[in-house]
Amino acid sequence: RTLDSLGPLGSKTVIVRCDLNVPLATDENGAKSITDDGRIRASLTTIRELREAGARIVLISHLGRPEGAPDERFSLRPVAARMAELLGAPVGFVDETVGEAAAAAVAALSDGDVLLLENLRFNPGETSKDDAARGAFAAQLAALGDAFVSDGFGVVHRKQASVYDLAKLLPSAAGRLVAAELEVLERLTEKADRPYAVVLGGSKVSDKLGVIAHLIERVDTLLVGGGMVFTFLAAQGHAVGASLLEEDQLDTVRGYLEQAVSRGVRIVLPTDIVVAESFAADAAHEVVPADAIESSSFGAAGLGLDIGPDSAAAFAAAINDSATVFWNGPMGVFEMAAFAEGTRTVAQALTDTEGFTVVGGGDSAAAVRALGFADDAFGHISTGGGASLEFLEGKSLPGLEVLA
Ligand code: 3PG
Repeated sequence: RTLDSLGPLGSKTVIVRCDLNVPLATDENGAKSITDDGRIRASLTTIRELREAGARIVLISHLGRPEGAPDERFSLRPVAARMAELLGAPVGFVDETVGEAAAAAVAALSDGDVLLLENLRFNPGETSKDDAARGAFAAQLAALGDAFVSDGFGVVHRKQASVYDLAKLLPSAAGRLVAAELEVLERLTEKADRPYAVVLGGSKVSDKLGVIAHLIERVDTLLVGGGMVFTFLAAQGHAVGASLLEEDQLDTVRGYLEQAVSRGVRIVLPTDIVVAESFAADAAHEVVPADAIESSSFGAAGLGLDIGPDSAAAFAAAINDSATVFWNGPMGVFEMAAFAEGTRTVAQALTDTEGFTVVGGGDSAAAVRALGFADDAFGHISTGGGASLEFLEGKSLPGLEVLA
């Protein structure tokens, strides 16, 4: 159900679940700043449309993973300020989610006003595994509005009160961001132009097992970088020094490598690695062959922090040869300049290729923006990390299921 199914929304109070979970940095004086506002910008289309329709808008979101109680470090207050700048209109903020102050702030809204409530996860009911606890919190949220718009794509894979239970209590619909994200991801799952390449990175292979198993049956090329690559290299029998390694996944990864061969899927692993003496921005580092990581001057103590230049060039060539590319997860520790080149080269290749490119994930999106790439240089930048991976995995996502 899309926004249009809700009928005229003038003077109606509409609760909009956004994913305003943005990365924050705190300076030495304790002042917080938003380091990537992509998720705030992505939420504006729906908000603008609702304002034009004369709705009274109550935004709800989580930020980070506080433990069910107020915690100033995870306050959404800085997000309200940034949203007001981007929207060019005031965005009210109230430092509770449900309760008297929240209800009074909602009741004071006029047509077209926007109010952001405090972090949903300050309330234990939001993420509770207990249906009754979640339901009770959802009922408190529902009491604040006349209709519900689900637009937090990054969180639709979570069965949480504001994502799932609330949608059952009010007339509900998907917002414009959720609809746009689905259109792109459906294109990838149902009618991707071939050759189709997926680039996976990030630190943990265990987070990506489901998606790898699913993609091996569907893609032409799987390029693997990031911290998870060392488990692949170890599965091939290579020593990886002190690099990140998930020993308990070695057999699974070996299975994927064999399956790829039998299915004719090309798995491209790096052939060279940037190995560092320690995990530090100014650590000494060298490029060594991926099958001889311990040959660096740091011996078995060296740790791989990026794919090497030959690998980055090979990844770029494979990306250029593809008609569709999905990328999730940085190739190295891009936050440190010395280990950002692999991620930069892959991002550059995605922007150069004529194929349709999708960047999935909060981290990958933050990485390309931090490296100076413009959003419109890519076919689509998804606001969802876990959500886009679970969608590609073919899983049923609770936040979408409930709107069907
Ligand atoms: C994300 O950053 O992927 C979403 O905001 C979901 O956050 P979560 O993983 O803490 O549920």
